[in-house]
Amino acid sequence: MFIKLLQSMFSVRGGSPDDGVEPEFPAERVRTVRRAHAKAPREQHLNILFDEMRVGPYPIAGLADSCVRDSGAQSPPLKAFHRPLASYFLARYFLYSLALDGARAECGVFSGASALLMCRAATTRSAEYAGAGLHLIDSFAGISPPQEEDLIAVRAQDGRSVVMKPGFDGGAFASPLELVRHTLREFPAVAIHPGWIPAVFAELPETRWCFVHLDVDLYEPTLACLDYFYPRLVDGGVIICDDYGAPLFPGAHRAWDEYCAKHDLPYIVLDTGQSVILKQAADARAIRTAEVS
Ligand SMILES: C[S@@+](CC[C@H](N)C(=O)[O-])C[C@H]1O[C@@H](n2cnc3c(N)ncnc32)[C@H](O)[C@@H]1O
Repeated sequence: MFIKLLQSMFSVRGGSPDDGVEPEFPAERVRTVRRAHAKAPREQHLNILFDEMRVGPYPIAGLADSCVRDSGAQSPPLKAFHRPLASYFLARYFLYSLALDGARAECGVFSGASALLMCRAATTRSAEYAGAGLHLIDSFAGISPPQEEDLIAVRAQDGRSVVMKPGFDGGAFASPLELVRHTLREFPAVAIHPGWIPAVFAELPETRWCFVHLDVDLYEPTLACLDYFYPRLVDGGVIICDDYGAPLFPGAHRAWDEYCAKHDLPYIVLDTGQSVILKQAADARAIRTAEVS
């Protein structure tokens, strides 16, 4: 259901106001849902939905909330129901990866809320977890300049015509590196790599990876991350993209679709709009492909 709402936000439906069909604009749909959430009894909904959903001993809604709060970020009403479920799925894949060999990465850190969540989830498996082998990558100067693939349809000032614009301009979501270091102070072994994707990849150790969280919003860096990490991913390793269903960032799912089509990669899309690759050994893939055809 939620994915249908996300899909409806992606594209301009109908033609133009001129042909009698009122088009739908992603930013307007987002504003409508944001207003609806702002007025609803969110706490009550959250209790009904997530009361018994836990990561180790932590109720997921409280854990997700505390990570946002402790990173100094805001938890807007729009994301009130997306964040706990998306955090739960992220934590589950991160915990799964703890049994694999290889390094872990997050591309797109902002103020560190999702990185903190993964680290706190890991402490439910090992109280001594200090973040060793986890690499955080971000410009800390915000998103790079959006490209054509990132544009969404927006109602023009005349209220009639449609213009294509980015959901956010380059430089949005800048967050000082020192803030992220502070957010992650409980996990001193985490490695932080400030710089632009893909140039910053030259700073990474040449290693195999077992878990990658992509949250860079845009077409170019999402594609560059897949290009870099997928060939270095161990069998059984996970790449999870936060932005596949993001209505204001169509470029991320375009990059994902393009990469997966080019390399014939299977993946899933969760109802949160997160997409996930679980890398299979070549022989296991061949068997599955034979089953499908
Ligand atoms: C939505 S925020 C990440 C949110 C974070 N994962 C969380 O849940 O708290 C997107 C991040 O991607 C980073 N980013 C976008 N394009 C980038 C690029 N080309 N190189 C490096 N970082 C980039 C931005 O600086 C921003 O911090």
